[in-house]
Amino acid sequence: MKTIQILGGAGFIGKNLITYLVKSGYQVSCMDHTKIENPCKGVSYIQGDFFDEKELQSVIKGKDCVIHAVSTLNPGNSNELYMQGYEKDFIQTVRLCRMLIGTTTKLIFLSSGGTVYGVHDDQPISEDVIPHPINHYGNIKLCIENTMRSFNYQTHNKMLIVRISNPYGPGQDFTKGVGFIDAALKQALNEKPVEIWGDGENVRDYIYIEDVCKMICSLLEYSGPYDTFNISSGIGYSQNEVVELIRRQGLDLQVVYKGKRSVDIKKIILDNSRIKTVWRYQPMSLEKGMQKYLKYLQQTI
Ligand SMILES: NC(=O)c1ccc[n+]([C@@H]2O[C@H](COP(=O)([O-])OP(=O)(O)OC[C@H]3O[C@@H](n4cnc5c(N)ncnc54)[C@H](O)[C@@H]3O)[C@@H](O)[C@H]2O)c1
Repeated sequence: MKTIQILGGAGFIGKNLITYLVKSGYQVSCMDHTKIENPCKGVSYIQGDFFDEKELQSVIKGKDCVIHAVSTLNPGNSNELYMQGYEKDFIQTVRLCRMLIGTTTKLIFLSSGGTVYGVHDDQPISEDVIPHPINHYGNIKLCIENTMRSFNYQTHNKMLIVRISNPYGPGQDFTKGVGFIDAALKQALNEKPVEIWGDGENVRDYIYIEDVCKMICSLLEYSGPYDTFNISSGIGYSQNEVVELIRRQGLDLQVVYKGKRSVDIKKIILDNSRIKTVWRYQPMSLEKGMQKYLKYLQQTI
């Protein structure tokens, strides 16, 4: 496995994956429709459109692996923009899968562990439960996942799905609609309050972005029986607990509680035992990860 094409590589996860892949010795290419700021040395960048079939076909051609990190929606806006998600994100990913038939290119799709599963009493949630997403963002991810599984059965057994929980770290931008830790740390540093929708008791499985990259990249050489992996810390914290941890760093973080949103699930903790059979390490604790990210923000803001 040598040549990796990242689709959506100017985004939060894509940028971090590129840095990690280059450090690990891979030959990396990136396609994104936005201009890349601070390009990574040695990476081949193309400013192109995922929804342009010709461009897409040309960037994936001959690659050992394609990592699909493009999404035009987020959980917060998907109940208004869902037709765009089904008509564009979903259909174009089906086309991408079709383009890979007859090749040896592996596909890794970035799905959403936080929204695909829906409401479950038993936590942490394993990859084997029946998912029933409560918002269109999660359902569009699931439609894409199921299509990839059909391709795996029928024509191309090299498609993997990573269900990422709640990543945080350098390169994140909470103003795009996701990233509670990013919002809380940046607001605290700017002496502004952070907004919480609901009572702050919603529990999420936060994972430092470096661990996300390490887990995903461990799958580049994977050829075992599973097609779906949770990418998570396996530990849950409520937003109120996160706020407490931030205050313990000496920051005076204020909170404004707003009405709860119908798109948010009460509790999501993902079982990471499957990915740990491939990546045999311990993810960073939330306390350590937040200290690391805080230090980074203090040096860069
Ligand atoms: N950040 C999270 O909390 C999280 C959690 C789970 C899953 N995911 C998934 O991981 C993937 C990456 O997430 P992210 O946080 O890096 O998102 P992001 O919005 O930061 O990055 C997405 C990138 O896709 C690019 N893009 C959008 N439309 C494009 C187009 N037509 N052509 C080319 N590029 C285009 C954007 O310019 C952007 O750089 C997404 O599929 C997302 O759903 C994210």
